[in-house]
Amino acid sequence: MTINTDHYWMPFTANRQFKERPRLMVKAAGMHYTTDDGRQILDGTAGLWCVNAGHGHPSITQAIVEQATTMDFAPPFQMSHPKAFEAASCLAAMAPQGLERVFFCNDGSEAVDTALKMALAYHRLNGDALRTRLIGRERGYHGVGFGGIAVGGIAGNRKQFGPTLASVDHLRHPLDINKNAFSRGLPEHGAEIADEFEQRLLALHDPATVAALIVEPVQGSTGVIVPPKGYLQKLRSICDKYGILLIFDEVITGFGRLGTAFAADYFGVTPDMICCAKGLTNATVPMGAVIVKSAIHDAFMQAAPENAIEFYHGYTYSGHPLACAAAIATLDVYRNEKMFERAAQMAPAFEEAAHGLRGLPFVKDVRNLGLVCGIELEPIAGKPTARAYEVFSRCFWDKGVLIRTTGDIIALSPPLIISESQVHELFGAIATVLKSLK
Ligand SMILES: Cc1ncc(COP(=O)(O)O)c(C=O)c1O
Repeated sequence: MTINTDHYWMPFTANRQFKERPRLMVKAAGMHYTTDDGRQILDGTAGLWCVNAGHGHPSITQAIVEQATTMDFAPPFQMSHPKAFEAASCLAAMAPQGLERVFFCNDGSEAVDTALKMALAYHRLNGDALRTRLIGRERGYHGVGFGGIAVGGIAGNRKQFGPTLASVDHLRHPLDINKNAFSRGLPEHGAEIADEFEQRLLALHDPATVAALIVEPVQGSTGVIVPPKGYLQKLRSICDKYGILLIFDEVITGFGRLGTAFAADYFGVTPDMICCAKGLTNATVPMGAVIVKSAIHDAFMQAAPENAIEFYHGYTYSGHPLACAAAIATLDVYRNEKMFERAAQMAPAFEEAAHGLRGLPFVKDVRNLGLVCGIELEPIAGKPTARAYEVFSRCFWDKGVLIRTTGDIIALSPPLIISESQVHELFGAIATVLKSLK
């Protein structure tokens, strides 16, 4: 297919490299994409960690089409429509107990910025206006809004946009390949890194100035960092001790990725807020949400004068009718087709296949949890990212398999409907490519 590549400035893409040989998808169904030249590509990444129920689920598609023909849009400020309330109730019903109030936005970045604003506003209306500091983690990824990049721990963002970032600090990330390489599931070592939150950051800044800690329960975009045993529990108890809100950014871990509705369920740790997006609508229509403990929501309701807007925040497309219809249908599919249980059942075979790569050329570490896996490769000296890019490119062109890379790490997160033979196809393709690397 010939396309005019002059005008589209692609996001998070090596534009010049891509445009020399475009990779174009034109159809998708179940576990596969079809490319413009008619090839089938096995989806090892659920699109971008988001098509959890597989592509083109008929009941989700039907719900969107029906909504589009019934009502395209309703203003979300001082007005609404029934499906916004229904979608919020469905999401609250799936969320961990105690997280009952839902604020809609359009994606993960907006969910993060919404949650950070809620945290700051919450403390202020509680008379705790000193709490203005936000804590994130090194190698954290929380989207691309200014709030998200401030708490995120990506060095490149700090270089390019640093001067505008807010008052934040960062906890050390818990990846320790020296001690934990090739861990299956949760690593044994590193829970004590959580203690540094109290012993270093809170000691330095004064806990009374800290509004919230935001973490991805499993760090995804910077290379799959699985929390050590007991680590998240420690963060929860330190937050409790000092009245700091704990925000889980579950944009990739939400909706079954670990075999449970949320990572909070998997770890048995309940945060004060959950940010989610992606799998919320199976990526059919953009949508994000912040799910909040009732006490936080209620504080807003009680503090504002009668008839006043309680939280000065929202988007034109908050609770968009098409997104709400898609979310209701998607959450139904997850429940009715027992997708999360299915992911949990497939996780051991996925783990086994992932660790089958150990010992292959350039494989430095394999780490996994649920249906997420990171394969860290030795970089080519002086050419960071080139090795992983070659594996990605060869998997796509030669093997018909879509993987994702970040730095020199391969990150896999297939749709939850992946079969055991497809698990073998996915890792088999990577193994073959790795063995052929020079
Ligand atoms: C943990 C996390 N938070 C936030 C985001 C941003 O989401 P979006 O790209 O929908 O804005 C992502 C995207 O991958 C993510 O992984």
